[in-house]
Amino acid sequence: MPKGVFAESGADLRLEGIKKRFPGFTAIEELDLTIPAGSFFALLGPSGCGKTTTLRLVAGLEEPTEGRILIGGQDVTRTKPFQRPVNTVFQSYALFPHMTILENVAFGLRRRRIGDPVAKAHEALRLVELDHLAARRPAQLSGGQQQRVALARAVVNRPALLLLDEPLGALDLKLRRQMQLELKSIQTEVGLTFVHVTHDQEEAMTMADTVAVMNKGRIEQMGSPEILYELPATVFVANFLGQSNLFAGPVQESSGETIGVDVGGERIQVPTSRAQRTSGYVTVGVRPEKLTLHETPETIPSGANRLGPGRVTDVSFSGVSTQYLVEVPGLGTIVVFAQNTTSGPVASLGAEVWVAWDAGHTFVLADEPPADGRFSDDADTQAIAAQARERMLTELEEA
Ligand SMILES: Nc1ncnc2c1ncn2[C@@H]1O[C@H](COP(=O)(O)OP(=O)(O)O)[C@@H](O)[C@H]1O
Ligand SMILES: [Mg+2]
Repeated sequence: MPKGVFAESGADLRLEGIKKRFPGFTAIEELDLTIPAGSFFALLGPSGCGKTTTLRLVAGLEEPTEGRILIGGQDVTRTKPFQRPVNTVFQSYALFPHMTILENVAFGLRRRRIGDPVAKAHEALRLVELDHLAARRPAQLSGGQQQRVALARAVVNRPALLLLDEPLGALDLKLRRQMQLELKSIQTEVGLTFVHVTHDQEEAMTMADTVAVMNKGRIEQMGSPEILYELPATVFVANFLGQSNLFAGPVQESSGETIGVDVGGERIQVPTSRAQRTSGYVTVGVRPEKLTLHETPETIPSGANRLGPGRVTDVSFSGVSTQYLVEVPGLGTIVVFAQNTTSGPVASLGAEVWVAWDAGHTFVLADEPPADGRFSDDADTQAIAAQARERMLTELEEA
């Protein structure tokens, strides 16, 4: 189906100076956001950070305390929900149990007296590959199929803006992965603007063109998944999206193109273009897969950043890669991911090693480092690591 034939094109969404206070609680501190028409946008953040509140404001189910909401250039801040070109898909996909799948999807069209409701409903069901089940009732469908019906029911209304509030949260891991890919291809096909809310970083990264990372009612950073991952701007983003090794130290030199930061007696070089701050005491970071292990500093290429020596305190094999924990006195634990391209471990438990990496992979964050230079383990990062492990185990089982 060519793009744009089935649904009208999407509209852009602008949030200007949005604040939302509930009695005794400020859910949205300050939100300024532009989502281009036709994009797949993800709002990513931990539970309670204000994602659902943001969607409810856009849908008109809540009124902002301050600020304006514009859809396709039109100020809708004071309009009723049904006057907005918006549809929402929630995690609980309440379908009408007594109606067939087809009637569920056609329902909104009939109510709005849109012509050809049956043909349009069939078309929407073909889009989610469920037209062959059109005559069934919801109870005769699996959870994943019901979720796809909920999606068809929203898309059939041709909303300029489709809001998805953790729509895959109730599905099991494998089905969720499958639906992620499907949602993405449906969005590309219909060309509507999708705003997808999730607390699952993997989900946001695989689906969205642009991800906004939200924390405590604010957007910490917004950009393509690649930029957010390769160049996080804050400690929160560096830990919420994947894992990071973070260190603290004073900037000791600045040449214009690079800055040199003293970390545990070693000079760590950072391209100035990758530094949110270029003077004073700063937070330096590098992703675990960028690191390599070395038995002696002599094997480290000149110009590379290095830290050590440290001791390998944990080696855990997880299929595609091995995770090493390296304890460096004064710096804490460094996490290293090594791809399993060679057989056998690169370093064994208890070995003394140096870690090294290309200076171009280093970043300096906007945050003030903690006074003692130690970064506490982030609960979200732990949860994400556990999820990643679970997923890899599933994939191993399937292989
Ligand atoms: N009607 C309300 N009254 C008071 N506080 C609320 C209300 N709705 C949400 N909140 C609070 O606002 C914060 C953000 O909630 P929510 O937007 O649902 O977060 P998320 O969807 O990111 O998990 C939470 O602390 C929540 O308890
Ligand atoms: Mg929510």
